[in-house]
Amino acid sequence: MVALNAACGTVGEGALAGRDVSRRQMLKAGAAAVATMVASGPIPGASAGGLSALPHLEGATPPASARQVLLLDRGWRFFEGDVPFPEILGQDESYDNAKAGKAWGAAAPEFDDSDWGAVQVPHDFVSFQPIQPDANRAQGYRRRGIAWYRTALRFDPADQGRHIELQIDGIATHATIWFNGTVVERNWSGYNGITIDLTPFATFGDDLNTLAIRVDAHAMEGWWYEGGGLYRPVRIVKRDPVHIVTDGVYAHPVPAGDGWVLPVEVTAYNAGTSAAVMTVVSTLEDAEGLVVASGQAPLSVPALEQGAARLDLAVANPRLWSVEAPSLYRVQTRLMAGDRCVDAVTTTCGFRTTRFDKDKGFFLNGRPLKIKGVCVHQDHAGVGTAIPDGVWDYRIRRLKELGCNAIRCTHNAPSAVVLDLCDRYGLLVMDENRQFNPSPDTLAQLQWMVRRDRNHPSVILWSVFNEEPMQGSAAGYEMVRRMAHAVKALDATRPVTAAMNGGLFTPVNVSQAVDVVGFNYQQDKYDAFHAAHPDRTLISSEDTSAFSTRGAYETDKDSRTIAAYDDPVKGWNTHRAAWKEIATRDFIAGGFVWTGFDYHGEPSPWGWPSNSSFYGIMDLCGFAKAAFSIHQAQWVTDRPVLALVPHWTWPGREGQPIKVMACANLAEVELFLNGRSLGRQAADPYEMNHWMVPYAPGRLEAVGYTGSAVAARTQVETTGPAVALRLTPDRDRMRGDGLDAMPVTVEAVDAQGRPVPVAQDLVTFTVEGGDIIGLGNGDPNSAAPEKGERRALFNGLAQVIVQARAGAPALTLTATAGGLKPARARVPVDAVPPPARQATTGSDLILDTWYAAPLAATQEAALAYRQADPTPWDDFGTRWAHDPQTADGYTLCSVRFTPHAKVGRQGGRVVFLSLVGVCDIYEGGRLLGRKTTPMPGRMEVALAPGTGQRRLDVLFQTPAGAAFGFDRNVVVRQA
Ligand code: GAL
Repeated sequence: MVALNAACGTVGEGALAGRDVSRRQMLKAGAAAVATMVASGPIPGASAGGLSALPHLEGATPPASARQVLLLDRGWRFFEGDVPFPEILGQDESYDNAKAGKAWGAAAPEFDDSDWGAVQVPHDFVSFQPIQPDANRAQGYRRRGIAWYRTALRFDPADQGRHIELQIDGIATHATIWFNGTVVERNWSGYNGITIDLTPFATFGDDLNTLAIRVDAHAMEGWWYEGGGLYRPVRIVKRDPVHIVTDGVYAHPVPAGDGWVLPVEVTAYNAGTSAAVMTVVSTLEDAEGLVVASGQAPLSVPALEQGAARLDLAVANPRLWSVEAPSLYRVQTRLMAGDRCVDAVTTTCGFRTTRFDKDKGFFLNGRPLKIKGVCVHQDHAGVGTAIPDGVWDYRIRRLKELGCNAIRCTHNAPSAVVLDLCDRYGLLVMDENRQFNPSPDTLAQLQWMVRRDRNHPSVILWSVFNEEPMQGSAAGYEMVRRMAHAVKALDATRPVTAAMNGGLFTPVNVSQAVDVVGFNYQQDKYDAFHAAHPDRTLISSEDTSAFSTRGAYETDKDSRTIAAYDDPVKGWNTHRAAWKEIATRDFIAGGFVWTGFDYHGEPSPWGWPSNSSFYGIMDLCGFAKAAFSIHQAQWVTDRPVLALVPHWTWPGREGQPIKVMACANLAEVELFLNGRSLGRQAADPYEMNHWMVPYAPGRLEAVGYTGSAVAARTQVETTGPAVALRLTPDRDRMRGDGLDAMPVTVEAVDAQGRPVPVAQDLVTFTVEGGDIIGLGNGDPNSAAPEKGERRALFNGLAQVIVQARAGAPALTLTATAGGLKPARARVPVDAVPPPARQATTGSDLILDTWYAAPLAATQEAALAYRQADPTPWDDFGTRWAHDPQTADGYTLCSVRFTPHAKVGRQGGRVVFLSLVGVCDIYEGGRLLGRKTTPMPGRMEVALAPGTGQRRLDVLFQTPAGAAFGFDRNVVVRQA
């Protein structure tokens, strides 16, 4: 057994794909390893942080010797709109254009971005756009367009020799990426992550690196709001030349005999110059950090190749992962060269079995479990698709409250954090691919998803498409056959499905190429398909699509409002009816309601001014509609549910009948108005219970019974006028890492502190110790901006998304509205070490078009050249010392340049990263600096403000045989 080097901590795996190595190749390459059961006891250096320290959720900082994962969230400069490339006409320009490192326009390292705006990534630039009737309806009436992002990276000289990878978790939509003037990636989907090996192009120390990204969000892949830009995290990862590739640990336990086995497949890459012979050591730790099993296997990697190893860890009696008790384990995987740990990765896994049965539906850990799922787009009020982890955490907790046990990621792979949260909170996941296409580019996107997500116990199904017109054809069948095969090559443990909305009965169709047949709607065909294909397993991949407006109880087409009673709308389903079709058939494994939350775009059933959907069980902010109570009554089984719809504040409606709905998972419900019984009904688990109640102000109360016992009570009361505002933060503390964000609920309350459900007040916010990054209120018809500091309540509610500032002791949000007492929420911000970040800086102007005048015998003669046009002289290259002169004399070197706008205004510095020879530096007639030693050295001179073209002259003393020149870059840098 290889000794573990305690100094080599393991780092949570980033969320991106490594290189292609199929499972089969890995199995061939890796020797089956020793599997050992180890007596309990923490391994040295292992943390016992419990579940809160899981990867992604906490950014573990590795020791200096191991891999470094550095956030690249700050230091971005952003331009909204295109920066057209200059037309190339000249011969020399055409020649240069064909060369590595010579990109033009905004892709060029020396491009002037000094006046571009500063943005923080994740960043959805479309969410800042106004909502306008002439923009695309499906995308929420927001303009998309083209944008550029640029940043300059400084890599430490000590990083030289390390492997440096850029990881971008998602860019909407088409992206071209240049690094130091060379195209390093073109990516054509907004939903997959990218990893780029920057190592061969990287420069170090003062020689900055330029990253430029052009994003074309005109391209659309969906019919919903998709956002635009760098909307998911970006990182730089520095590793040993021999390292575990991104997403290079596949460790997903499977039952074996009476116990379990955890096969650990590890893929490493060798950027070094000679073959490496290594050992992979993996240990399995429980949530307390105790080692449960460990093993090792040899791994050899030729230079510039990948190598793979496999070891099997036997585990006798693990705690199982389930939706009620989602027990997780950590796999610590180390790559060892002798007793030196060269790389280490932590992944998470969970022990569970899943099975789809043709008659009995889905089984988790051998027990039947009806899948009570919702479809979820990646979108939230105020922030669009750039959803902070804290907001995802809120959304997933809201789904757990709903009684939901599964999500379908529609219609694309989610952000990595979503699956971490589903693992942690116990939600099953149908993980879905975006592009239906088995050609190489798109197949790679599908395989990226599987490789990234296959360790998550939450993921139970891979979905290769949603509603594709070719689903009933032989071509569709062949396409899915290939895609399913590509999935199985990477993960044979989970079934493949496809969400079909037709074509199920044609002679050759997609249902024949998948393991689980996904029905989108078509509920009238469940029985016929089951009868025709009794051996197939079925799930409702999508159902319901019912409309409602949160907090509204009358349908009014003129105001684009749909009552939230779940009333039938012609041609569409209701929450109640759709679930009944699923719940009453054991052979349907469960379903996914369209949708858990409203989302921007697809504003059915109407268009403008409606700009977001009406389908959600919750609105855009995650506030409950009546469908929330309906599904709680249908889905929750571990506690009594009793809720009343609607509120009971109807001034002016006295004596008029109001429809009341009680949602209960109990035996009977009795309704009381101001203490008087309005009747007791057997609770209907599907339809819910209804009464028509003449309105009288006061208290409407429901009592729920199981047998004769009272199991639950609930009430709604008529509120008085609003007198004050109330703010309710989602959490009572925040982390001071500069990233943590959360929603704050805004309400108006009456004199007794009861939320007023009809309040529509305009509220203004101020914040200290943080920032407001988005606003919303769930009104699907509002075109009000979701950025800024003002939002009206909509039917009593609004939401502010706040982000805490690093270093602030607390975040304080204040809300004011005319005639109401203001509210203030103070949330302590815990001081935490800042996340490890990649150093960034302003872009340099690189001076690389120098010319050298003919050798002059005297200093005066050389200086006289300053008046001459330098362009006929010889080119004088930078980045290497010039060939020595053959006779003693003086050599004048000149460059013309126009400083970047900011330097022009404020002045700057000319930095000679390495200047060789004795020389004087002039601008115009002014001596800026003097170097008195011939040895190479860094030199910096101040540059005064000034616009327009400038000229620098460097006068070298050039004795015969002595090297001189610029053996690294010469740059103009901001002061
Ligand atoms: C489905 C589709 C969803 C959404 C929904 C609206 O057919 O899969 O993406 O468009 O209809 O009802």
